[in-house]
Amino acid sequence: MEKIVSLCKRRGFIFQSSEIYGGLNGVWDYGPLGVELKNNLKQYWWQVTVRDRDDVVGLDGAILTHPAVLEASGHVDTFTDPMVDCRTCKARLRADQLSEKNGVKQCPNCGGKDLTEARPFNLMFQTQMGASADPASIAYLRPETAQSIFVQFKNVLDVSRKKLPFGIAQIGKAFRNEINPRNFTFRSREFEQMELEYFCRPEQGMDLLAYWLKERIRFYEEIGISRKRLHVLDVPETERAFYSKGTFDIEYEFPFGRQELEGVAYRTDYDLQQHIKASGKPLDYFDEETKERFVPHVVEPSAGVDRTVLALICDAYDEDSAPDEKGKMETRIVMRFHPRVAPIKCAIFPLLRNKEALVAKAREVQALLRPHMNVFYDEGGAIGRRYRRQDEIGTPFGVTIDFETLGEKGEELRDTVTLRDRDSMKQERVAIKDLPQLIPSKIR
Ligand code: GAP
Repeated sequence: MEKIVSLCKRRGFIFQSSEIYGGLNGVWDYGPLGVELKNNLKQYWWQVTVRDRDDVVGLDGAILTHPAVLEASGHVDTFTDPMVDCRTCKARLRADQLSEKNGVKQCPNCGGKDLTEARPFNLMFQTQMGASADPASIAYLRPETAQSIFVQFKNVLDVSRKKLPFGIAQIGKAFRNEINPRNFTFRSREFEQMELEYFCRPEQGMDLLAYWLKERIRFYEEIGISRKRLHVLDVPETERAFYSKGTFDIEYEFPFGRQELEGVAYRTDYDLQQHIKASGKPLDYFDEETKERFVPHVVEPSAGVDRTVLALICDAYDEDSAPDEKGKMETRIVMRFHPRVAPIKCAIFPLLRNKEALVAKAREVQALLRPHMNVFYDEGGAIGRRYRRQDEIGTPFGVTIDFETLGEKGEELRDTVTLRDRDSMKQERVAIKDLPQLIPSKIR
């Protein structure tokens, strides 16, 4: 993890938030490469979950949430972790993370045994709407994106005229006042979710749970996460939410252990029923064919954007060896991102920066490729060093403009370039005019 965290900072994937003021614990900023990686992930999720399907539509709900919504969902009363204070060192600790010696609970920081009773600590961030500070002005930063989907179920159903089964998808920020944010971005206080609420008839629930589990595993494979590091945990009934008839956790083998990336849960009709009860509004569905009116059930694949980004980074990190300028083998750090999610798809290099004709041609290639993909122009330093810089951030392709390109080594090579593959380090000679089709065909 140390190598990964250091690379993330050094190359501009992830920075600690408010770093110059000492940092804000559990909050992270994504740098120039991190934001590209994250956007590629979110766009691909949106593509396969919403745009490629006839049965899913999107929503972008507000972050500020009416307390009544979160009272109905159970978050106000039960979204808590049991907390203990150490009276010796004043640390606030999660009750399930205390250490134990000879059967006596201890503070893991100072070893103190003078601990308070466990008390529930609500994980939601509360804020105040408007100028007055009375309880009626309380609002919450949403702890999950799902609730606005349930609350808007009727509106979306009316405007989209979808028939069951159908889904509503959302990508957005969520906030949890985690007691112990840890493992880099894995457990953060501000994070993003990609959630789908897939509504169905009650008798379809269990089959759709199995269906969505398969779809979601396929998604992780399609973004390049190795199948062997993905695991499925069939959550036992005793550990599931009481209303869930089945939940699978999709886990990834992070360097710090096997941890949850996504939950795929069959939540029955619990959420819609809670909002019907609390709001008094009908959130049911009328089946035109059977003339039945009922409250739909829901299967929810709920993934974390930040955790998936972290899994992508961990999975891509590799070290192999490559020759340096003098042909001596050296260690190469290479991020083997799938081209689909790689922050930069193609780097463009003029062989020499002080040859005007090479630079002009390279700028032409940059302009040609720019409408098709995220490209990066680099003319600084020896070419081997430039390749290495791109390997380290996972750029899958590199195009070099050399003297052959200018026609100086024979007319037949004029307007051709070398196309280098990050993983094999092999180079092939291709015509500039073919690049806008050739590179995208290797990305998809
Ligand atoms: N709507 C269901 C729900 O929110 P969850 O298991 O609490 O379920 C879903 O969260 C996903 O959100 C998790 O699998 C994880 O990827 C992500 N997530 C949850 N808490 C997180 C945190 N503190 N930091 C980063 N990601 C988190």
